[in-house]
Amino acid sequence: MPTDHSFAPTQLAARAAYLLRGNDLGTMTTAAPLLYPHMWSWDAAFVAIGLAPLSVERAVVELDTLLSAQWSNGMIPHIVFANGVDGYFPGPARWATSALAAHAPRNRHTSGITQPPVHAIAVQRILDHARTRGRSTRAVAESFLDRRWNDLVRWHRWLAEARDPNERGRVTLYHGWESGMDNSPRWDSAYANVIPGAVPEYQREDVAIVTDTSQRPSDAEYDRYLWLLEEMKAARYDDELLSKTMSFAVEDVFVSAILSVACDVLAEIGEDHNRPRADVRDLYEWATRFRRGVIDSADERTGAARDYDVRAERWVATETVAQFAPLLCGGLPHEKERALIKLLEGPRFCAHPDLKYATIPSTSPVSRDFRPREYWRGPVWPVMTWLFSWCFARRGWAERARLLRQEGLRQVSDGSFAEYYEPFTGEPLGSMQQSWTAAAVLDWLG
Ligand code: SER
Repeated sequence: MPTDHSFAPTQLAARAAYLLRGNDLGTMTTAAPLLYPHMWSWDAAFVAIGLAPLSVERAVVELDTLLSAQWSNGMIPHIVFANGVDGYFPGPARWATSALAAHAPRNRHTSGITQPPVHAIAVQRILDHARTRGRSTRAVAESFLDRRWNDLVRWHRWLAEARDPNERGRVTLYHGWESGMDNSPRWDSAYANVIPGAVPEYQREDVAIVTDTSQRPSDAEYDRYLWLLEEMKAARYDDELLSKTMSFAVEDVFVSAILSVACDVLAEIGEDHNRPRADVRDLYEWATRFRRGVIDSADERTGAARDYDVRAERWVATETVAQFAPLLCGGLPHEKERALIKLLEGPRFCAHPDLKYATIPSTSPVSRDFRPREYWRGPVWPVMTWLFSWCFARRGWAERARLLRQEGLRQVSDGSFAEYYEPFTGEPLGSMQQSWTAAAVLDWLG
């Protein structure tokens, strides 16, 4: 339950640092100690952002571990499994990528899907912190960039080529898990068209840890999640085949906006650090392409972005955090951008009268899909607050960025570092000691 106790900033930062130390397995930080006992791709990037003010060296190790599990086609897998750790389902045996996928690494177990490309932001934060340190720390960051530049460009190239072969400017996902927003109402209609065949028997581990099942996706949803794995295994995780055979294929507007921003960020890093001109040019081109894809999806009147269901051939509009994707990457005509900011800051989102803090709920409280305790159907995720505040600062919206940071910090000041929070009561939900929540705090207070 929420406590009224709140920690002072220095104490809160100390506790966040202590949490990351506790979740550290040596060269990887678990996303959360019990619920997610391995390395998750976008969690790892946020973790690196939190580690950077503590130790640039350790932040670099985190990204090195993740990138050492990159597939040979360029994909960064969504989970890198810790050796010898059980307690998460689906684990390596269920994914079977080592046996089936031609591109999977041979020295590590990984899942067979991907996650949002926020990693360039982490690289930038690492370089920012390194600049304020001594020569040897700067050298660690520089040599990381030398060592991993090609891998980072390869990662973006894979997204642009394998996941947007027709250059529509939007990244296609074959599983809701790839969005990071597993059970968001965004995916309901696409999942309704996924008819699970014979799913090999399985036992969920998550509901043994988060025992209040109202906070997690339902069993019916899990059947579909697991069925999609079977479809991927039948295609041996082959990029070409997946595009033809998967019964779930959706262009994700939020991932596309993140990719656009990440390409710009990486291109700027490339310019600052004398990387090959051809790479920088490709990165800027992808940034432009994906920005256009996001803007093309926007509603004429409100500027709200929409996903596109490739199988049903239709736009999917939902009142979720994802509709604000254009505010992350920019590009909307002025009037539409004004309208979208008004929607974000109005009573359907941040200024809903019953919200405890003026942060962005994952689903609008006025939507009929809203469930205040259920994962991506309503709760507030501090890491989203961080992402919006960082992007707003980058766009020059200092006051908006400051407000989100302030409210985000107030929300987590009880020190539980929860995965997500009930928007009206502020109750911490899901996993406690979630690494990326601590990381957001460390960056905010760093
Ligand atoms: N977020 C998913 C889970 O809950 C997988 O990435 O397990």
